[in-house]
Amino acid sequence: MDQFKIEGGRRLEGEVRISGAKNAALPAMAAALLTAETVRLGNIPRVRDIITMAKLLAHMRCRVESPDIPPSSFVIQAKTVSHIEAPYELVKTMRASVLTLGPLVARFGYARVSLPGGCAIGSRPIDLHIQALEKLGATISVDHGYVEARAKRLRGTTFHFPKITVTGTENVLTAAVLAEGETILENAAREPEVTDLAALLIKMGARIEGAGTSTIRVQGVEQLHGAEHDVIPDRIEAGTFLVAGAITGGDLLLKDCCAAHLGAIIAKLRECGVDIQSEGSAAGRDALRVRGARKLTAANVTTEEYPGFATDMQAQFMALATQAHGVSLIRETIFENRMLHASEMMRMGAHIVIEGNTAVVTGPARLSGAPVTASDLRASAGLVLAGLVAENTTVIDRVYHIDRGYERIEEKLRSVGARIERISRPG
Ligand code: UD1
Repeated sequence: MDQFKIEGGRRLEGEVRISGAKNAALPAMAAALLTAETVRLGNIPRVRDIITMAKLLAHMRCRVESPDIPPSSFVIQAKTVSHIEAPYELVKTMRASVLTLGPLVARFGYARVSLPGGCAIGSRPIDLHIQALEKLGATISVDHGYVEARAKRLRGTTFHFPKITVTGTENVLTAAVLAEGETILENAAREPEVTDLAALLIKMGARIEGAGTSTIRVQGVEQLHGAEHDVIPDRIEAGTFLVAGAITGGDLLLKDCCAAHLGAIIAKLRECGVDIQSEGSAAGRDALRVRGARKLTAANVTTEEYPGFATDMQAQFMALATQAHGVSLIRETIFENRMLHASEMMRMGAHIVIEGNTAVVTGPARLSGAPVTASDLRASAGLVLAGLVAENTTVIDRVYHIDRGYERIEEKLRSVGARIERISRPG
């Protein structure tokens, strides 16, 4: 299991290219199951979860090819799908495997997908995915740890999500596109990744209106065809680098990001005194410059569904808050157990008190390097950021979590002046 060794205290300066969004690429790859024709996807981030999804599609006997190694684009053709199953071995390493459930049952009338268990940040059920698919006419059973869904042809319906779910909305949307008649999804997730998925589906011939709002209307079609699509930039990677520039008092130019998707994050960082400026746009991609404030000030954050402040940026913001003057209240409302990084930051000297779902962070604290353990993907990013400002050496264990969702983060950070190295350890 690899570790990161970070020598903190370096100001970051230079340019960083933001990769494609993992959370947009995963549903796009699953959507390729909806047609026998070829789907070409570009701007795919070179991260572990993408490899897992590619393995899953290959396991189902899809043609999955990438012209480059490591892959940044994929050609997927689900012409001869035979194993209509997402096995436990793959689902346990990546919950997003469940995104194959909707497309499979819609196109083949059958799907068998292992139930993802809980994970470090919460219990994370998929009950709403199941309820919505049942409402679309699928017969669903849960046995031996697997969800089995059957349907002759799904029928359009109206489904009101009692709670907003991102992958739930995506799963049901990718089922509804092939259902008979109209489907209306109410209280749907408005995340840019949902909108991007809808854009791909529309290119494939789907009839969808309202993606990006809380009501999505789908007119089902008999079949879909091949398409080409570049996924959107990763707003969480961009947010992480904005914090990296801010926390080190640096000067970073983020290229190929999408400023419109970063509204809540940029607003919050500006509230802390961070200077963020647009440096132009080309072909739908923005360049953003971030300069750290001489004195960061505390700010309160509550995580919310989009367009609110993303839960996937909570750990990174906590790292920033340890360096801000005053008391920051950070309230997590999406996942019940997403504060594990707080205790690791406290071991580095952060002043944090956890009260229920709120972290009370008093800053600025002098962080000192320590051995710490990453508990999940975004927690690891928070610990890397804390390591960048800590004195001496921070060693982060279990960085496989960060490899799931960040493309070569240590190389990108090193290229702008960070002292970070990967220590490869077998096993
Ligand atoms: C997605 C993102 C993840 C992000 C999260 C919230 C992907 C691959 N992952 O995860 O990075 O942190 O959105 O923005 O896109 N819930 C239920 N029943 C369900 C489904 C969800 O109770 O059937 C609950 C969850 O436990 C959680 C909340 O709803 O408390 C939101 O979860 P959801 O939006 O589904 O997260 P994911 O789609 O798994």
